[in-house]
Amino acid sequence: MFTERVRDLAHVGSVELFTPTPEESRAFFVDLLGMSESGRQGDSVYLHAWDDYERFTVKLTASSTSGIGRTYVRAASPQALERRAAQIGTGSWVEDELGIGRIYLCTDPDGHEVGLYWETERFTPSPGKGPALKNQADRFPGRGANVRRLDHVNYLSVDTPACGRFLTESLRARPTEQIVLDSGDVSAIWYTVSDKSYDLVYTNDWTGTHGRLHHVAFATDTREDILRAADVMLENGIHIETGPHKHAIQQTFFLYVWEPGGNRIELCNAGARLVLAPDWELISWTQAERAKGQAWGLKTIETFHTHGTPPVS
Ligand SMILES: [Fe+2]
Repeated sequence: MFTERVRDLAHVGSVELFTPTPEESRAFFVDLLGMSESGRQGDSVYLHAWDDYERFTVKLTASSTSGIGRTYVRAASPQALERRAAQIGTGSWVEDELGIGRIYLCTDPDGHEVGLYWETERFTPSPGKGPALKNQADRFPGRGANVRRLDHVNYLSVDTPACGRFLTESLRARPTEQIVLDSGDVSAIWYTVSDKSYDLVYTNDWTGTHGRLHHVAFATDTREDILRAADVMLENGIHIETGPHKHAIQQTFFLYVWEPGGNRIELCNAGARLVLAPDWELISWTQAERAKGQAWGLKTIETFHTHGTPPVS
């Protein structure tokens, strides 16, 4: 049945990652991914990908362990923010983040914190270090993987359908693809809030632990960038978990690495793939299709199903 789409959210803005090795993790994001430092506050360092228009892309927070903190999602307008807040009802208003105004802070059913906001500070390059062309946020770094922007967040969840209802009913995200096991259980769902084919993803957490992260993904311009990134990671002793290769689901060209703090980071390129159809029909992948592996036959590596952050024994 067709349901008119409510586009109250614009895009995923930034994400907070926890790391037990803050200096090594900062070096990974700056030297190997090509981000720049755009602020410091308390135990956090703020990092910016060159084409993101807002103050920061990643808030890297020193902690006793790894994992994900808040995900910030920008509303489409001040009115849209008020509408989402009124419908969710269980969150609270805070104003406690660098470069972001009033935040409606809520949690998904698995305990991941989501901050919705409208007011945001634009990224400002250091004097004399800005881009040559005024229609991009910062100078192209020419360093490491040169990630352009935050692409998506993939959470682990104990109850993926419940998290899905939060996304579709409270955030008005739209599911585009899913995995349906032979038992009928849905084990993973990909959602979009924008014209991209996905922005937020939930995957079953086999450990039964709440609030964990599977991975955060950053977009590169080309597939070739992903191959170059693999060489950069290899040269610098970063654990390459799997790839470069192409996903069957969403067809994303990918590389997965573990940053020094343990969080899984994906470098991704989905080419020009957008979901423009207002009546897009949810694609379901079966357990047998999933067992075939990735698009060109590479079997999914075991740790892809077992590693999440923070780690659990
Ligand atoms: Fe991903």
